[in-house]
Amino acid sequence: MSDHHSVGRLSIRRLVRNWISLAGALLVVSSIFAFLLLLALDVLSQHGNPYMGIVAYVVTPGFLFLGIALVILGVWLQYRQERRVSPGAPPITWSIDLKRPRDRKILGFFFSASVLFLLLTAIGSYQTFQYTESVQFCGQVCHVPMEPQHVSYLRSPHARVDCVECHVGSGAAAYVKTKINGMRQLYHLAMNDFPRPITMNSTTLRPARETCEHCHWPQKFSGGLDKTFHHYLSDEKNTPFSVRLLLQVGGGDPRRPEQGIHWHTDATHKVEYSYADDQQQVIPWVRVTDAKGKITEFKDSDFKGDLKKLSVHTMDCIDCHNRPSHNLLPPNEAVDRAMAEGLIDSSIPSVKANVVAALTGTYTNREEALKKIEATLRANYPNEPKVAAVIAETKSIYNANFFPEMKADWRVYPNNIGHKIWNGCFRCHDGKHKSSDGKAMKATDCNSCHLILAQGGNADMLKLNAKGYDFVHIDAPYAEFSCNDCHTGGAQKQ
Ligand code: HEC
Ligand code: HEC
Ligand code: HEC
Ligand code: HEC
Ligand code: HEC
Ligand code: HEC
Repeated sequence: MSDHHSVGRLSIRRLVRNWISLAGALLVVSSIFAFLLLLALDVLSQHGNPYMGIVAYVVTPGFLFLGIALVILGVWLQYRQERRVSPGAPPITWSIDLKRPRDRKILGFFFSASVLFLLLTAIGSYQTFQYTESVQFCGQVCHVPMEPQHVSYLRSPHARVDCVECHVGSGAAAYVKTKINGMRQLYHLAMNDFPRPITMNSTTLRPARETCEHCHWPQKFSGGLDKTFHHYLSDEKNTPFSVRLLLQVGGGDPRRPEQGIHWHTDATHKVEYSYADDQQQVIPWVRVTDAKGKITEFKDSDFKGDLKKLSVHTMDCIDCHNRPSHNLLPPNEAVDRAMAEGLIDSSIPSVKANVVAALTGTYTNREEALKKIEATLRANYPNEPKVAAVIAETKSIYNANFFPEMKADWRVYPNNIGHKIWNGCFRCHDGKHKSSDGKAMKATDCNSCHLILAQGGNADMLKLNAKGYDFVHIDAPYAEFSCNDCHTGGAQKQ
């Protein structure tokens, strides 16, 4: 029994009996508890949240180590105290005697504090979990780098869909990938060395097709979709020129004989393509595999590079709908919309051309841009009483669509849904992609994807033609498959 009396052989059991070590132990237990809770929440949620990893795998272990450190500190202090006592003297005993009211009180307090602490840990963990899932977290904590995406998202049809609903896929592989990605992004945020602008090839944020299909049933038959594009020419009168299209969206239901634009992603076949640039704008080769396994390849006769060196990708929703929630509008389109909605008065001479020019100036930061936009428009209209409203709306268009600090605007994010400003559909349907027997790909004439129901000025727009008009390109000449030679999204090249 003498060992209990000698300091050199103090039992560890006795040394841990002190309040500091006990508090440390409580911290150890609760951080393990918080870790397991977060892990369970994260695994059970539909999508592994990218930033949750940080909390679960970095913050909770941090508290765990703090707890362990406290335990050791307590032991060390206790040890020092016992060493100080002379060898012969009875050891400092640390006992809890329930008969003593003081001990009962302290123990009762410690016990209730522990329960409360664990409860708070649980609530805290859950709150943290909820917070990292939120749009606010994705869009605002990461404020500077993701501002363009967050701002455009808020006015998109998906403004009520959480970022994680699109950006985090399902399954274990997506889970792990998301975790690694989240850590990497936060690291680059901390180091302030993230790319400006952020593009898809440098991050692996591209949503998977299944994520869209949680909400959009791909077999749904959409039929024809009626869409009107309002424009104003850059002349003095801001001459209105609109186009009303019936887009043959069709449906992805393979049992229906009539097909349409959504044919690409129906279940009976696979469309694959290879691309020659990071943003997948140059597509020299396409392959269709039908239900019976028959393969048809289409090659761009103009492509000079080596096809074998290119990556191959299976076509999905995002190959056409690549800006469903972060559409930074080209200034030409943004100003057209504002004019059509009456936010910019189209009776002000040359207002279309002047506002587009003010928006597309070269500015290094937002402050400078807003100042110069105001100065330019004031100089354009020294005697126009309505200029203040024009300036206000122009600034608001700028704020919504231009992010000079991130070098982000419409120019760096091609939108693949049409073919006017970017090649979009014409990346493949340009008449140059031919099969080995020399046949051109389907859907290369102007009526295969849409009918022009009406076009022209305000009076012309009332003359609907259910069979579709031939396109009238104002009075200007145009080339069929290279609209984007002239249409840049800013001022048109003549
Ligand atoms: C409706 C689905 C959807 C939602 C909701 C969504 N995104 Fe995206 N996001 C996309 C798609 C699609 C892309 C582009 C993929 C491509 O270009 O290949 C993208 C691209 C991005 C990019 C890369 C840069 C770029 O603009 O191409 C970032 C960053 C981003 N999203 C962040 C966010 C944030 C932050 C939120 C929430 C505020 C969010 N996303 C919500 C679908 C979505
Ligand atoms: C969590 C559900 C959800 C997810 C995931 C989702 N969407 Fe949507 N989507 C919606 C809702 C809601 C609307 C708005 C419908 C409305 O306005 O009537 C919408 C609208 C759309 C529209 C019509 C846009 C318009 O201008 O009216 C397109 C195109 C679209 N989504 C594509 C996508 C794509 C591509 C993805 C995958 C990257 C996706 N969605 C993911 C819910 C979702
Ligand atoms: C080949 C290009 C292409 C592909 C691939 C594609 N879409 Fe579309 N989708 C379109 C076009 C074009 C429209 C017409 C609307 C427009 O022009 O903005 C449209 C319309 C829609 C709409 C609005 C339909 C409505 O009835 O309001 C939704 C939703 C949609 N697509 C979702 C999807 C989803 C989900 C996928 C993947 C399963 C997908 N699309 C694949 C080109 C495509
Ligand atoms: C990656 C290449 C690629 C892109 C991009 C692409 N398509 Fe296609 N599309 C195809 C192929 C391949 C076919 C089948 C052609 C054939 O069988 O001759 C096809 C067929 C079609 C058809 C006929 C479907 C049917 O009923 O049989 C339509 C309509 C169509 N595409 C519209 C569009 C529209 C609209 C866009 C842009 C939003 C677009 N495509 C973008 C590759 C593409
Ligand atoms: C492969 C399919 C396809 C073919 C072929 C096609 N278009 Fe389109 N076009 C589209 C789609 C999809 C849109 C809608 C884009 C959107 O929703 O923003 C569009 C939009 C348009 C618009 C409206 C653009 C605007 O901003 O006002 C015009 C005009 C137009 N097309 C003319 C033509 C002409 C002319 C041809 C023949 C040379 C043609 N299209 C061939 C798919 C096609
Ligand atoms: C040779 C150059 C050139 C080509 C090619 C061209 N356009 Fe244009 N387009 C113009 C010019 C110039 C205007 C007048 C712009 C203005 O006054 O603001 C114009 C105006 C338009 C407008 C109305 C005004 C606006 O701002 O949108 C539409 C719609 C349009 N073009 C569609 C197309 C489509 C679709 C194609 C391809 C099928 C095409 N254009 C090819 C030069 C061209």
